[in-house]
Amino acid sequence: MRLAVIPGDGIGPEVVTEALKVLAEVTPAASDLDITNYDLGAARWHSTGELLPESVIGELRQHDAILLGAVGDPSVPSGILERGLLLRLRFELDHHVNLRPARLYPGVQGPLATQSEIDMVVVREGTEGPYAGNGGILRKDTEHEIATEVSLNTAFGIKRVVADAFARAQQRPRKHVTLVHKTNVLEHAGSLWSRVVEEASMRHPDVTVDYLHVDAATIHLVTDPSRFDVVVTDNLFGDIITDIAAAVTGGIGLAASGNLDVTRANPSMFEPVHGSAPDIAGQGAADPTATVLSLSLLLDHLGHTEAARRIEASVAFDLATRDHSSPGATQAIGDRLAALVSSNTRHEV
Ligand code: NAD
Ligand code: IPM
Ligand code: MN
Repeated sequence: MRLAVIPGDGIGPEVVTEALKVLAEVTPAASDLDITNYDLGAARWHSTGELLPESVIGELRQHDAILLGAVGDPSVPSGILERGLLLRLRFELDHHVNLRPARLYPGVQGPLATQSEIDMVVVREGTEGPYAGNGGILRKDTEHEIATEVSLNTAFGIKRVVADAFARAQQRPRKHVTLVHKTNVLEHAGSLWSRVVEEASMRHPDVTVDYLHVDAATIHLVTDPSRFDVVVTDNLFGDIITDIAAAVTGGIGLAASGNLDVTRANPSMFEPVHGSAPDIAGQGAADPTATVLSLSLLLDHLGHTEAARRIEASVAFDLATRDHSSPGATQAIGDRLAALVSSNTRHEV
């Protein structure tokens, strides 16, 4: 397995170190693993002005997958690293399916008063919407300055992400897809998304479908998250609702994601949903579980199903037995997970 690792900024390197410890335990022979580190992020930008050189994109394409910690740093103007590095990677590598599972693991006390089973996956479009950079500024620095950010929605882009959501729903026990959008206001994009979902629904008669406006979806995510199975939505709505989904399933420290090119023409990239968390960086306080679970998504994507299941089972065991009032430091959690995966027993809960 040729793996590219981008530790990034803030807590990124801290959580990635722990995930690599876990990886070393699930990989039978070190010779099976070819890891290249890429020092992209704030430090490189400060010292060289580089964000993501073309040559690096070319090298990344030669890998089977990418593991990323997080990017973003208070010393760099907001958006420089996020757009110039993270979003550029997602666009260049055509990561159209941003897969974000949210599961409430046994033993985890979410913030909600009534606790029911939560096992959902958000299929967030990853290359379009308001993220496409389609906008600009007119009459800059005047009283009448105008800023636009036009959301890009193509039939091609929506069809491929909706197809992925239905294919996933088809494999899941509840076989249910919820489209989240804002069709009451976003007339044109709303109409296109609705029509594409309707067409997909006709091809999948055994998958049930419903629709929620994104504002109402945030209510249901907090009051009744167990109603969700597969959610399909655009790039921006998906960003927002996956932080809520993370919060109701035990916090952002547990939320994993994969940026997938489902055609496999480009390597997919796996990263925790959270950012570089400058408020806790350098303290060894970040929970590396989200990154470890992202590694498990990575292994699953590459067909290493058994290794992926072992990691998930180890995380489930750790979460079921952890003292959640003091979960331990980054390194202690990483050590526990590495020890669990290295034992031959499968730690099912
Ligand atoms: P954040 O996710 O970094 O932090 C939000 C809150 O969650 C903070 O209080 C933080 O301490 C906490 N948190 C995050 N990860 C945690 C973990 N593993 N364990 C325990 N607590 C954790 O979001 P933010 O503060 O809005 O953004 C910080 C920077 O990260 C910004 O520059 C932002 O653009 C960037 N960002 C990057 C990514 C990415 O690289 N994928 C994602 C989100 C934000
Ligand atoms: C995420 C992040 C990114 C996004 C930012 C940092 C560009 O919030 O991965 O959820 O909005 O997609
Ligand atoms: Mn986000």
